Amino acid sequence: MATKIKKIGVLTSGGDAPGLNAVIRAVVITAHQKYGWEVVGINGGFEGLLGDPSLLRPLGLVDVINILPQGGTILGTTNRGHFGMSEERPGELADPAIADQAVAFCHEQGIDALVTIGGDGTLQISYQLEKRGLPIVSVPKTIDNDLLGTDYTFGFDTAVRTATEAIDKLRTTALSHNRVMVIEVMGRDTGWIALYAGIGSGSHVILIPEIPFTIDSIVKQIEWRETIGAMFSLVVVAEGAVPADGDTFYRGDREEGGMKRLGGIARWITEQLSKKVEHDVREMVLGHLQRGGSPTASDRILCTRFGAKAVHLLAQGRSGTMVSLSGTSIQAIETWKIVSRQKRVPFDGDLVQTARGLSICLGD
Ligand code: F6P
Repeated sequence: MATKIKKIGVLTSGGDAPGLNAVIRAVVITAHQKYGWEVVGINGGFEGLLGDPSLLRPLGLVDVINILPQGGTILGTTNRGHFGMSEERPGELADPAIADQAVAFCHEQGIDALVTIGGDGTLQISYQLEKRGLPIVSVPKTIDNDLLGTDYTFGFDTAVRTATEAIDKLRTTALSHNRVMVIEVMGRDTGWIALYAGIGSGSHVILIPEIPFTIDSIVKQIEWRETIGAMFSLVVVAEGAVPADGDTFYRGDREEGGMKRLGGIARWITEQLSKKVEHDVREMVLGHLQRGGSPTASDRILCTRFGAKAVHLLAQGRSGTMVSLSGTSIQAIETWKIVSRQKRVPFDGDLVQTARGLSICLGD
């Protein structure tokens, strides 16, 4: 059932990803031009809903001129803060009263509905606010591409391009020195970035969290490459990849209100390989480089389609949904069906089979 909307809010939440501004632009233009709605930007993600009106800013057409190709987010974002999830009650906010406060603030400010742009954390919070009567449509963002319910999230394509270009550059230096380069990419507990960038760059070993690996399998691959006259190797490792006889690598402790930071696997592999192969072995952590810069054309188009669709869904009264890419069309999927569920690389999917068919070592 369609609802009477006059003003919507838009916010970006979680880690930044290329394309956030492109979504904001599509939301603002569609809301103004097609429906005559006002739009307010909420600064600082959900934190901007905690009672301080100075964090709200009207967004008109003039405010979104030129932002389509810009990385980052004009609204700012945070992946920690007051909206942390409870560890004892899965799917619930640690402080449920915070959600009541946010919804009350929206009512006070005349915000009839929200477009929330973010990853799983954003979906979880959105779901809680929606349950308290605030209409919300979410837009799936993450360079990790690990959200269920959509073929791709925006930001992923740009991150893969950045990682692939970086690996291309590392290839020429590896080749010149007959070295093994170990390149750590992001992705949290999924191997989408590693697999895409690894295949896209013609890497020789790709290690993903979905397939536990052994050092011996990497050594075997390096030695096999020597027998075919290839004296260098490129090893791409997802930050969440796990040794078959070990644990996930984390950097220090969890930051307050945030998730535990992954990292360190490339260094460990480099140390292990150095003991077992003749080559020099060097490591490179691509890190936040993968989140920065201007979105690819493909991401810009996806963001524009997602942003416009989010507004149409609100107009149709179809809140409680996330926009999604299914094949070639943009759809809506109910948030409750996908919230807190992760999309992992299928062990026997065609990507994995393609890699195996090309003699890429997957570590098992
Ligand atoms: O989820 C996106 C992501 O970039 C992950 O790939 C990575 O593990 C994490 O965020 C890093 O977060 P932070 O910006 O807090 O270091």
